[in-house]
Parts: sequence; C-alpha cells; structure tokens
Amino acid sequence: MSVIKVLDNIYSVGVLDWNVREFHGHTYSTKRGSTYNAYLIVDEKIALVDTVMGYFADELITNIKEIINPERIDYIIANHVETDHSGALPALLNLCPRAKVLGTAKCKDGLHRNYYAKMNFEVVKTGDKITLGKRTLTFIEAPMIHWPDSMFTYCPEEALLMPNDAFGQHYATTERFDDEVDECELMDEAAKYYANILWPLGAIILKKIEEIQKMNIPIKIIAPSHGIIWRSQPQKIIDAYLNWAKNETKKRAVVVYETMWQATEKMARKIIEGITSAGVSAKLFDVATTDRTEIVKEMLDAEGFLFGSSTHDNGMLPTIAGFLQFVKGLMPKNRIAGTFGSYGWAGGAVKEIEEIIKEAGMEIFSPGIAVKYLPDEDEFKRCFDFGVSFAKKIAGKL
Ligand code: FEO
Repeated sequence: MSVIKVLDNIYSVGVLDWNVREFHGHTYSTKRGSTYNAYLIVDEKIALVDTVMGYFADELITNIKEIINPERIDYIIANHVETDHSGALPALLNLCPRAKVLGTAKCKDGLHRNYYAKMNFEVVKTGDKITLGKRTLTFIEAPMIHWPDSMFTYCPEEALLMPNDAFGQHYATTERFDDEVDECELMDEAAKYYANILWPLGAIILKKIEEIQKMNIPIKIIAPSHGIIWRSQPQKIIDAYLNWAKNETKKRAVVVYETMWQATEKMARKIIEGITSAGVSAKLFDVATTDRTEIVKEMLDAEGFLFGSSTHDNGMLPTIAGFLQFVKGLMPKNRIAGTFGSYGWAGGAVKEIEEIIKEAGMEIFSPGIAVKYLPDEDEFKRCFDFGVSFAKKIAGKL
C-alpha cells in the first residue's frame, strides 16, 4: 500500500496483505486479505500510531521514508500488543532509537514478553495526553476490546479516533475510505470481523461506547488498524456495533449440520422447508464444506440456530464438534437453539449438542429430533413440523 493522505500531515503508512487467507491461527478466514494500518502524524513532533505485521516492516519503513526520515519519529503509539500491529516495532526502533513508545501497562508487559527488546516505554492511562504541536493525542484505555492491553488514541483537533482493532475489517482494497468502496461488501466484512472476534465482548463494547459518548468528544473520522477508514459515515459503524453488542436479532434462522451418509442432510432440508413455510427466513450450511467464519457471520443477527449431526462413536461428528466449541466461546445472547440428526444403532449426537447449547447459555428448543438411518414418510413430516414449530418459536407465536 502506498502512502495515503488521511488529512493534512496525517498519513496512512500501513500495508496491504492481499494474500493472507487465515488469521489468528486458523480461526478466521480472510478471503479478501487484510491490511495492517499505521498512521503517521507530522507536526512539530512526529508520532506513529501502531506499526504492522513483522514481515512487512520493510514496507512500513519505506512508506514512512516517503514522508520523513524515520529517525525523526518522537513517539510510537502502541495501541495493541498483538503482533499484527507491533511486529514491525523492533525493526523500526532500530531506526529511531530515541522514540518513546507509549501504551498501557499491559502493553508494556506484552511487548516485553513478545520481543525482549530494549525500548523507551512510557505507560499511559485514560485521559493522558501528548502535545505534538498544533495537534494533541489523548489516550483511552480499552481493555478487552479485544485484549487486556488494548487502547484507543484520539486526536481532538481533527476529531480523529484511532481505535486499533475496533471498527476494523479484514479487507484489502486499493481504496482506503468508506466512500470509495462497495458499502455492502464493507459492512459484510465489518460484520464478519465483529462476529468472529468481538461477539463475546458485547457488554464491554457497549460500556466503552457509552463512556466515549459521555466524554462528549466529536468523532469525524474513525481510522482502525484493519481495513477501511470511516470518514463518510463513522456513525454507521458505531450504530452497527451498538446493535451487535446489544445482541439485537432478526426473526431468521441458521441451520448448520454435518452429515455422514446424507440422512442428516435430508432432515436439514426438510426442517428448513418447515421453517420457511411458516414465514421465517432461513439459511442452511454444511459445516464440513463451508467456511466457518462465514457461517458465524450469518449467525450474528439470527435469532434461532439449529445444529444437526449424524451420530458417530456415540456423539457428534468432529467438524461440527469443533464448530460448536467455537460458537460456545462466542457466548451468543438472546438466542434459541435446537438440534437434530440421524443415527444407526445408538444415538448420542443430539444429546451431546443439546449439552453444548446449554453450556453456551442459549435457550434450548427441545426436544431435538433424532431419526434412525433414513427418515421414513412420517419422520420427514416430523422434521417439517419441527421446522414449523421452531419458526413459530422464533416469531414469538409459540
Ligand atoms: Fe489486529 Fe488484535 O490484532
């Protein structure tokens, strides 16, 4: 990514990672790549807000050199210790050893434990401020959005919020601003990011947005550390976060299954016929062949989930087991979930899935429906009726 001017003397100097397809280990698929954003603020003093993934350090440094000699950097703001934002810090510090690194106490500890590098680190807290010249930077601690060390940086003179991971998207494009890209694609990536990374943190996010609203600070631009900069409609992403954090749902269902010899799949198809016949929209996913990150995104605003599995070794199949483990960690609130599946000689999957639904804190729609081998005509009718009842439950008519 070449250097992009965000505002007068404020530049985006981060990098585009077109080819990354997995993030956070294998937990997040990034079909549109990602960006690691860093912002250079040139005033009487010079500050860099965040760095980039370590293997892109040279590109970051080249970008900075287009604007200034890196040795002139006075401050490096480390909003977050995770290596996609701090990986290039040690290489950069070699070029500006006198630069002061600013971050939270947990960031200081995290940087030490990641790099064991010598750095001139100063701990900052919410409300602390540095003056660059015409501009100042204020810090807002944001623990668990999404790591304990996380912090937002705010420039009041520009009404510019740099909240690191919050409001981000894994979305590589040559365009850098919300008014330059397809809005549906942008919101799709923003939702996917929220669902897969931030969903369990809704209560903390709501509190933080409330805290910032009480500070009464204007926000004209939100420049996150991944993806597009929100300069045209910053309130759009704030409102979306408020909805997602409140776990607001639509009357729709997501059906996710794994099947061994297609009996469970046939049940899923009949169930979804029942759901839609009752006027509720539904989507169906075979978890073994569908990108899990996309399924989770689809679940973000759906009120009801149905999970199906064939029974194997007295329990559910392994792909849906891993999927449900992930879903449990997301702790979805205000959801109704049920289960179904086919078995051969002894069941087990339905019971096992029901246990996970309860552990995840979702309202259980029971009893689940288990069928021996392939459903017969009556059992298909039961599957259909199960779908109808589930739809009525979602619609509040049961
Ligand atoms: Fe983009 Fe939490 O790192």
